[in-house]
Amino acid sequence: MSDSRQRKKSRKVSPANTTVDAPKKRKESADAGTAISHISSTFFWIPLLISIAVYLYLNPALVTSFINEWIGFSEHYDAIPVVPQSPVTYLPADVGRRDAIVSAFKHSWHAYERDAMGDDEYHPLDKRGSNLTETGGIGYMVVDVLDTMQIMGLHEEYLRARKWVVEDLTFERDDRFSTFETTIRVLGGLLSAYHLSGNDVVYLEKAIDLADRMMPAFDTEVGIPLPVINLAERKGYHTTDFPGLTSIAEIGTLQLEFRYLSHLTGNPEYRKAVDKVMQVIQRARLSHGLASIFISLETGQYETSAIRLGSRGDSFYEYLLKQYLQTNNSEDIYREMYEDAMDSIHAHLVQTSMGNKMIYTSEIIPENGADGEMVWRLTPKQDHLVCFLGGSLMLGATRTGALKYPVSIPPHPDELSDKGKRDWETGVELIKTCMNTHDTATGLSPEIVYFRVASDGMDVLPNAPPDWYIKGAAIGEFPPYDARYMLRPETVESLFIAYRLTGDELYRDHGWRIFQAIEKHCRVESGGYTTILNVDENPARLEDKMETFFLSETLKYLYLLFESSDVIPLDRYVLNTEAHPFPIIKA
Ligand SMILES: *[C@@H]1O[C@H](CO)[C@@H](O)[C@H](O)[C@H]1NC(C)=O
Ligand SMILES: *[C@@H]1O[C@H](CO)[C@@H](O)[C@H](O)[C@H]1NC(C)=O
Repeated sequence: MSDSRQRKKSRKVSPANTTVDAPKKRKESADAGTAISHISSTFFWIPLLISIAVYLYLNPALVTSFINEWIGFSEHYDAIPVVPQSPVTYLPADVGRRDAIVSAFKHSWHAYERDAMGDDEYHPLDKRGSNLTETGGIGYMVVDVLDTMQIMGLHEEYLRARKWVVEDLTFERDDRFSTFETTIRVLGGLLSAYHLSGNDVVYLEKAIDLADRMMPAFDTEVGIPLPVINLAERKGYHTTDFPGLTSIAEIGTLQLEFRYLSHLTGNPEYRKAVDKVMQVIQRARLSHGLASIFISLETGQYETSAIRLGSRGDSFYEYLLKQYLQTNNSEDIYREMYEDAMDSIHAHLVQTSMGNKMIYTSEIIPENGADGEMVWRLTPKQDHLVCFLGGSLMLGATRTGALKYPVSIPPHPDELSDKGKRDWETGVELIKTCMNTHDTATGLSPEIVYFRVASDGMDVLPNAPPDWYIKGAAIGEFPPYDARYMLRPETVESLFIAYRLTGDELYRDHGWRIFQAIEKHCRVESGGYTTILNVDENPARLEDKMETFFLSETLKYLYLLFESSDVIPLDRYVLNTEAHPFPIIKA
């Protein structure tokens, strides 16, 4: 199915989308009006029609492609009017928009440097920092952001941050830290900074020190890591909330980092530890092929718990693909696990919405039925976190679903297998749905949306939403958790991947619109950006937190969306789940 067809469909049938597309439409009709008023005399019409006829006679493809688009049968992913048979290999930068992203980065980083340099987290309204624990910071912010500065070419800022790493960063902290978060943000940040600096050994030494402190977490019955680690004690712990359990995303999102560290150091122990985790996950496979979010540390088996692509599940699926990509598409076991998971997602989780037939993903939640028996309930809830999946599916389609490699930009249908086409189309559709969830008072999307289902009884309401809504949000009441936008990156991440794979300017326009909404509603005048509590309130209520992933992911993906395609090219890099790029390596 072509992009242009989908865009047209959404303009026509989806009232929710009209604000998103409105500026462009206005511009087109204004142009047309001016052109027509200038052709006032019939004297112009005859020669004009003759020349159009001659031109079309000489270029018949123009007619067929126009007709195909018109009736929606276009064979191509003809997102941009490229000359046929001339594949796009280079996408130039949009310098103006790219530089606006750099300004936003500086607006944030300079405020953090001024108020909180070295602290783990930043609160821009109070202009203060905080640490994850009382024992002092672990470079959560600085290390997470090093590679963004390297990629943006911010040399002075980068050198100051490097100086902090050299002089102040230590992992000798006698308290408990998340194994998963520390790996993706801090270890991942150190490894990509090492690569992008041209192997500045400072970062590798710190990475080895950190990883060695974390390795004891893997020392468990079946080899899956404890979710929490005391970095000074070098000892893993259970969480107090879910003792005995860990989540699939937490154990399935360490592999890129630890394998890359083995590659860099020649020490196979890191790789062996995470390989073993993958073997446990492979053995634990449930009959439907999906992962429950909780897994038992003792047995390595899934616990009866929710199945979802959002929190505690998301990046496990992301890393199935990326593990295959990291070693240059050579390890078929990860390809098989990825394909298996995508088949199951299509079989069980992909749904079509009621009103505008949008594609979304639901969750499956275990509940106690009437007679006390456990029943699985399909729940039409989609976290913003799931918005990574659109780009991931498109990327996967061009790798595991490719009949030739590399495929064209955008891929021609002949280049994709049936499953590749399926994944590509679902990916394109999911991005459209995620963009649709930005149709709010602020133009930002909420943390969680629920989709309408026939049994929800909402049709009796005067303003029943056609497709989705924010649960529990009522005017005048404190907004529910679901309503917030906390500067998350997942939609712009997908837009970046989709743009690189298609060259379709639509994705840049979407990204620019999201960025403008962030500028309007989340920007703090004195420096930084902050979470908003309800995307449907304008002006928005603020919550005083700028997550590190805003600088390491959201602004990096926006920057890369507008940067030329030879910067972090997707055939040479794989980005970890915190947007830290690692080079693709030999198996
Ligand atoms: C965070 O930790 C660092 C290093 O120990 C310390 O210098 C800083 O004051 C701490 N920040 C806060 C807000 O406590
Ligand atoms: C990955 O494989 C392709 C061939 O499929 C090859 O051209 C490329 O050089 C390889 N890249 C690396 C980093 O080994």
